[in-house]
Amino acid sequence: MTQDELKALVGRAALDYVVPGTVVGVGTGSTVNCFIDALATIKDRIAGAVSSSVASTLRLQAHGITVLDSNTVQAIPVYIDGADEIDHRGCMIKGGGAALTREKIVADLADRFICIADESKLVDVLGRFPLPVEVIPMAAAQVARRFASAYGGQATLRAGVTTDNGNVLLDVRGLAIADPLAMEAEINQWPGVVTVGIFARHRARVCLLGTEQGVKTLSFD
Ligand code: A5P
Repeated sequence: MTQDELKALVGRAALDYVVPGTVVGVGTGSTVNCFIDALATIKDRIAGAVSSSVASTLRLQAHGITVLDSNTVQAIPVYIDGADEIDHRGCMIKGGGAALTREKIVADLADRFICIADESKLVDVLGRFPLPVEVIPMAAAQVARRFASAYGGQATLRAGVTTDNGNVLLDVRGLAIADPLAMEAEINQWPGVVTVGIFARHRARVCLLGTEQGVKTLSFD
């Protein structure tokens, strides 16, 4: 199977986790696009969606799925999203698609994060994928220097990219993230950091992994 076929497979499998009659949290990315297309087939059985990006909102609306303002929603049972890397505890690196801040906001509304990914995303230690960090533009160089001094990481500005929130992104290479929870907490304290793409506090509870043998379900509870 190709990587696209594996993404389509897990996108459809995620429908099993949608709770009928409720609002669904929807992530961003090519795997989530497959989920959105599958969700359209049951759109009359959900109360709508909360979206994590302009791109996902447009795709949901094109399918006739109601997108709700997150400020009007107090809680949702599930948030379904992809990942750039996921480890064996369900901690993830996210933000390759630049939507990490809204993704973390919607994940925070949800009881459970269901990750959908192809098997290339499963790693022992997070960090081979450059860590995305959304920063306030005036702090970009300062935060980049801090990555070098605190972790030996090399941060580069993602060229030509402005987030949905009007900020810029750093991609940090050369990290081996042994303790994702501690590192997320530390970087969150740095002035100018809006969101770090480590999802440890909001780790996945389930990962539907697309493999050559079919969908493998990893549970992290
Ligand atoms: C978006 O900002 C990211 O967090 C995506 O969830 C992540 O990059 C996975 O994207 P793909 O499904 O396209 O690999």
